Amino acid sequence: MSRLSRRVLSIDRSATSEMSAKASALKSEGIDVISLSQGEPDFKTPDYIREAAKFAIDSGRYFSYPPTGGYLDLREAIANKYAKENNVPYKIENVVVSNGAKQALSNAMLTVLNAGDEVIILAPFWVSYLAQVRLADASPVVLNGKAEDGFKVSIERIEQAISKRTKAIVFSSPCNPTGLVYSKKELEALAELILHYPDLLVIADEIYEHINYTDERISFASLPGMFDRTITINGFGKCYSMTGWRVGYLAAPKWIAEGAIRIQSHLTSANCSIAQRAALSAITGGLDSVNEMVNEYRERRDLVYSLLKEIPNIKIDLPKGAFYFFPDISHYYGLQYRERQINNSIDMCAYLLEVAHVAVVPGRAFGDDTCLRISYAASKSDLHEALRRLKGALGDLRGS
Ligand SMILES: Cc1ncc(COP(=O)(O)O)c(C=O)c1O
Repeated sequence: MSRLSRRVLSIDRSATSEMSAKASALKSEGIDVISLSQGEPDFKTPDYIREAAKFAIDSGRYFSYPPTGGYLDLREAIANKYAKENNVPYKIENVVVSNGAKQALSNAMLTVLNAGDEVIILAPFWVSYLAQVRLADASPVVLNGKAEDGFKVSIERIEQAISKRTKAIVFSSPCNPTGLVYSKKELEALAELILHYPDLLVIADEIYEHINYTDERISFASLPGMFDRTITINGFGKCYSMTGWRVGYLAAPKWIAEGAIRIQSHLTSANCSIAQRAALSAITGGLDSVNEMVNEYRERRDLVYSLLKEIPNIKIDLPKGAFYFFPDISHYYGLQYRERQINNSIDMCAYLLEVAHVAVVPGRAFGDDTCLRISYAASKSDLHEALRRLKGALGDLRGS
């Protein structure tokens, strides 16, 4: 009988951080591993944001506990951004700043879920949704989009999955891991469905908001009737290249925001004061540096797409957002490298890491075992070399 809590036993360690740890361990042995496993920009945080952090330190004004929900001026700046850019009239009272979007999501789940509740997760999904729902004692109901539908889940399937116990639906758009972006029409159809279920909430994870290569940028809460039904999740890590600073937030109806502050007041208090001052300068500093990074991501996406297309028997779509490819490599399952048999995405990623020295993440961690996730938040030269190795390793697999 394990002495660990049922809560811990119900979850695994995050597959993305596990794969990154394995890659780092091999690197420390002197092996030339290229890591495309972490969902992490490789750019430095822009200068003006770093300067704001230095200024905050030198001013000597930010060494005490910040207010639990975040500094008021940062919450106000976030609310203003949503009002101005996203057409969602959030106010300070709707915004709660946390240790990354990860904590914002956890706060959201802990605030609205009870034991026995169900949460519909549109899959392929970001790894932590499943664990976060379980940590809140609720049950995930996973709906898998198929590769041939661009991984999108139809409204009909969502409606069929809604039960009396369904409390929320969670998804990311732009999506980690597939890069899909739900269109305005598709989101409007979902909003119409939600209106038929007065207690149903949507947790809309918009953390890749700016890394979107389409002309549509829709915040779910801006759709008719959705302000009161949406918990918007966002953060600074991905778009401003600030993952290590750990600043994310939720924006939601006041009753939910207040609940999240209550939870956060016991779990962590506010997040780091200096990181919050840096985030304030990021969100009020315009989008020039964000756009520069996004242009570079677009070029890398096109590069990786052309390189992946040269590999026989893998299925891919051109992603519309985020910085990932999620190719279907299941054609290679059942094949062997020497004595080593590849039967699923876990075997495949172990093979690619140990033999080709490329770290990517098994699709199984995102709810689809036929695929693997490749992050292209890496230099073009690393991407070239990693894709060369990947092609070689897949080409070395043989039938028994
Ligand atoms: C879809 C999605 N949501 C949330 C997060 C968590 O972001 P943060 O680093 O701000 O906690 C990530 C990070 O990988 C993500 O990809």
